[in-house]
Amino acid sequence: MAQTRENWRSRSGFIIAAAGSAVGLGNIWRFPYVAGENGGGAFIAIYLGIVFTLGFSVFLAEQTIGRASKRSPIAAFRTLRGGAWPIVGFIGVLAAVVILPFYSVVGGWTFGFVWKSILTTTAEAGSFGNFISHGWLPILFHALFMSATVGIVIAGVNSGIERWCRILLPGLVVIMIVLIIRSITLSGAEKGLAFFLQPDFSKVTMATIQAALSQAFFSISVGMGVMITYGSYIARERSLPGDAACVIGLDSLFAILAGLIILPAVFAMGQNPSAGPVLTFVTLPKIFAEISGGTIFAILFFVILSVAALTSAISILEVVVAHLSDEHDFSRHKGTIATGIILFLAGIPAALSFGPWADVTLFGMTIFDLMDFFATKLLLPAGAIGMALFIGWVFWPTAADNLNRPDVSPPKWAPVWRWMCAIISPALILWVMIGGF
Ligand code: TRP
Repeated sequence: MAQTRENWRSRSGFIIAAAGSAVGLGNIWRFPYVAGENGGGAFIAIYLGIVFTLGFSVFLAEQTIGRASKRSPIAAFRTLRGGAWPIVGFIGVLAAVVILPFYSVVGGWTFGFVWKSILTTTAEAGSFGNFISHGWLPILFHALFMSATVGIVIAGVNSGIERWCRILLPGLVVIMIVLIIRSITLSGAEKGLAFFLQPDFSKVTMATIQAALSQAFFSISVGMGVMITYGSYIARERSLPGDAACVIGLDSLFAILAGLIILPAVFAMGQNPSAGPVLTFVTLPKIFAEISGGTIFAILFFVILSVAALTSAISILEVVVAHLSDEHDFSRHKGTIATGIILFLAGIPAALSFGPWADVTLFGMTIFDLMDFFATKLLLPAGAIGMALFIGWVFWPTAADNLNRPDVSPPKWAPVWRWMCAIISPALILWVMIGGF
């Protein structure tokens, strides 16, 4: 029995939920150190250039496919065209199934670090590193994080996703501003600000541009069908491009705010900004241990990281749940719980990858790294290429008519969008994909 499809309840429902999806670990954990390593302000400028052109075009492609079909990714392609195209949707759903388990493991760390920040006296900051490698503790927090994700998605598009994003996102902004003020008032913070914001074009190479491209696509959550799924809940009366620009603008804003929290503090405390992935989970706890009021700032910081991760995780789960409901007649209740349990189990090996199973490797990668590599370096780019090509070559010119309300003609720049989707974006994503090997 096909259930009647929910629409976003409020005008900004899509924007809020999609921004919740986009703003995630990618913004807070990854963007600051990638920007720092790749020429600071120069990287930010390139990143913004990419995200508002190529990123925008693929984002809009996904949204259009979703709103025109009113279906989840696989069903969407079947509804609009059929043939082999549903494979593109399948790649997206598969990406969701592979990403959510390890995303939830990292989400579990963020929950665990909130809890540690509350319990730990500042002197024991080193114990944060032990947390990740501890056997069952990360699994317990992975379970908690997955349960929270399930709890929101099970309540539905309006009462779950839209409602929680509307509560959590504004909270995020407020706490981030508090943290920025603390960070930039530390003595020596200006060096961090300069490192993050001052453009150093001498560091810009092809690799920089590739890094900016892959960061951009991951950060705005394209390639998986999140925006197809969320787009399928957008009413016909709305025009899509404005919403897309808002979401991308918010996502970029949060990434820059995160950099303004992290890098000034790192420099003020004489830490290494190129610490890479461990910057957030190892370097920052050390810093919090040293500054006055560190405990409260540590709690606040890991709360924002948790919130950002949670609103992203719900979008990934929703892709799978919407698929099960559209294609396999699962009720939301049954689909959410079954997916949550299975993907929790699938995450256990990833959770153990930093401790007891650190030596279990294939192609020189741990299980965690393998899942990450397969999904983010292979499936997501492949999905994004498929969606862009579909708009550029198959669903054109109908796609243009679906951008605005039925009675409003397509924007003048629609042909530019078409060629971005048909050639430029796929070619550049392919280039990044090849660079990933
Ligand atoms: N964009 C999120 C982040 O920055 C992660 C994410 C959620 C995602 N859903 C996605 C990435 C879909 C790619 C595709 O952390």
